[in-house]
Amino acid sequence: MQIPLMPESGSTLSGDVDALYFYLTGVTIFFALLIGGVIIFFVIRYRRRDPSEIPRPIEGSTKLETLWSIIPLLIAMSFFVWGASIYYRQYRPPKNALEVYVVGKQWMWKFQHATGQREINELHVPVGRKVKLIMATEDVIHDVFIPAFRIKADVVPGKYTTLWFEATTPGRYHFFCAEYCGMNHSGMGGWVVVMEPTEYENWLSGNANQMSPAAAGQQLFESLGCASCHGASAEGGRGPALSGVFGNNVTLNSGQTVRADEAYIRESILNPQAKIVTGFGPIMPSFQGQVGEEQLLQVVAYIKSLSTARTEATKPPAKK
Ligand code: CUA
Repeated sequence: MQIPLMPESGSTLSGDVDALYFYLTGVTIFFALLIGGVIIFFVIRYRRRDPSEIPRPIEGSTKLETLWSIIPLLIAMSFFVWGASIYYRQYRPPKNALEVYVVGKQWMWKFQHATGQREINELHVPVGRKVKLIMATEDVIHDVFIPAFRIKADVVPGKYTTLWFEATTPGRYHFFCAEYCGMNHSGMGGWVVVMEPTEYENWLSGNANQMSPAAAGQQLFESLGCASCHGASAEGGRGPALSGVFGNNVTLNSGQTVRADEAYIRESILNPQAKIVTGFGPIMPSFQGQVGEEQLLQVVAYIKSLSTARTEATKPPAKK
């Protein structure tokens, strides 16, 4: 069903977001009419009919006051609980998603698929598959907004943010930058192209001449000399082994435990002193300024690929 002024509905989340939105709108309209109607009714019914008229004193009613506190509380909590449940679904990306790296810069969006294909301002994805966007920016804050999928998230310097969606209908869906980022902000957008799985496979193989982010990351890892300290299976010895690290917990020399996710790896490259793995010295230099966001994502992809706790990102899509 297409409602005027509403974006089309193209993901597994859209229906839930719309239902909550209609509920909020419905409750708002109901109370606006109720309160407006009662005001008009009372103005007429209880108008002053005689200049000497003095109303009866009102003492208040505990019963009524309790009621008009509890009912709005319950209504407000229904917004909260419903909204929170959708929020948690949206901001906990599924484990088995297809991963796409996204880098925003003034004023374009760069995408790279796990299999290496790169795109600018266009993102091809298969229908019926969960897709996770791992997003970074090279300069200022941008924001990925795909109205038809009802998803939106800021892309903030110095960190990764993620979004996920599962498109339900093949087609082209407009996306936008939704955070003012300078002169050409309004032109910083493009299209998500949702394709049938076989079409998508064709598209992937037609663009298959590019190196996968993990392979590019491995080259960087070697050219930056990382391997001399942290060979993939600890050959270097001066830094922790990187195989099997991603997705698992790491114990630091402060006694704390952290989860090795994308953000942890990024931080360990740019600011190695922030979290030192137990048993190692603070000897790693920072790579701040030597690697850009896209290269960081490639090194992250490489370290991910060394992990046994791999996502299913590179497995072929499930047969339907
Ligand atoms: Cu990027 Cu607005």
